[in-house]
Amino acid sequence: MFKTIEWTDEGVRMIDQTRLPAEEVYRTCRDYEEVAEAIRSMVIRGAPAIGVAAAMGVALGIKNSGARTIPTLRADFERIAETLARTRPTAVNLFWAIERMRRVFETSLSCHSTDAQVVQAVRVNLEEEAKRILAEDIAINEGMGRHGAALMPESGTVLTHCNAGALATGGYGTALGVIRAAVSQGKNIQVFADETRPFLQGARLTAWELAKEGIPVTLITDNMAGHFLKQGQIKAVIVGADRIAANGDTANKIGTYSVAVLAHENGVPFYVAAPLSTIDRSLASGEGIPIEERDSNEVTHLGGVRIAPPSVSARHPAFDVTPHRFITAIITERGIARPPYSMSLNALFQ
Ligand code: MRU
Repeated sequence: MFKTIEWTDEGVRMIDQTRLPAEEVYRTCRDYEEVAEAIRSMVIRGAPAIGVAAAMGVALGIKNSGARTIPTLRADFERIAETLARTRPTAVNLFWAIERMRRVFETSLSCHSTDAQVVQAVRVNLEEEAKRILAEDIAINEGMGRHGAALMPESGTVLTHCNAGALATGGYGTALGVIRAAVSQGKNIQVFADETRPFLQGARLTAWELAKEGIPVTLITDNMAGHFLKQGQIKAVIVGADRIAANGDTANKIGTYSVAVLAHENGVPFYVAAPLSTIDRSLASGEGIPIEERDSNEVTHLGGVRIAPPSVSARHPAFDVTPHRFITAIITERGIARPPYSMSLNALFQ
């Protein structure tokens, strides 16, 4: 089994997701700027994995910092946090992880007497916290799997969009974690994976990790989903999330909204699986979720080859927001939330 991301003595090591499935190669980021660049260029992607990478980026930046006094260490922390926060705007896990690291930074300042002791304590504590965020993420996904498996059919086809698997998290996955758990309970499930234009996370990543594990997977192009849903060939849809507002509106990979509407139209349950760290209770609805606009070259080019006339411009919103009314249930590590989400999601935090 591969490791999506890990802390090593040399730096933050991650599987290069831009090279899959052709090559399974790993990249070691030796400073926080390399971690930021890896997030921006999607060497590592998926909301929980971005959170882990950001936490490790902060720890690495402080480890490499030459600061000897608290004011210079604080200035370094702010610069590192800001660089990492500017990488991708939609997945709230990025900001959640940076805030968690900030709390550890602040509490570490008060524990020791000399500046040298404080600097050393901050380094150690941030590294420990980043490793803890990774370990917790895997455990959270396994918990989500246990809750969500009951919602999966005994047998039949489940559709997913993008990649919400081990590659998108510290390990195991959110939506794919639920599928993994259902399969390990003996359910006879096969997965239809939307290819997920334009970055092809479904074709390149979901298909790769499921095939590697022996879970039956069939690739379809995004525009085939409606056809199969209408034919009654899909028993359930399950996706991950990048940010969930307090009312349950869910930002996820571009194209998710279309799948949710099509599932609703055809009476097929549509599930979202996400950890509590993906829920942004500061936003009342999905309208406030920032949607990343990526380079239009990712639309006009496929595998480095231009597929549209040179004069044609393109748009590339990387996410869309699915209104909560199309979501049958939201699966978290604390249990399953059902409508009305403003109450059920809130209850999970109590
Ligand atoms: O642009 P990406 O590949 O980072 O987008 C990823 C997704 O949209 C995933 O579905 C989401 O982050 C959930 S991952 C468990």
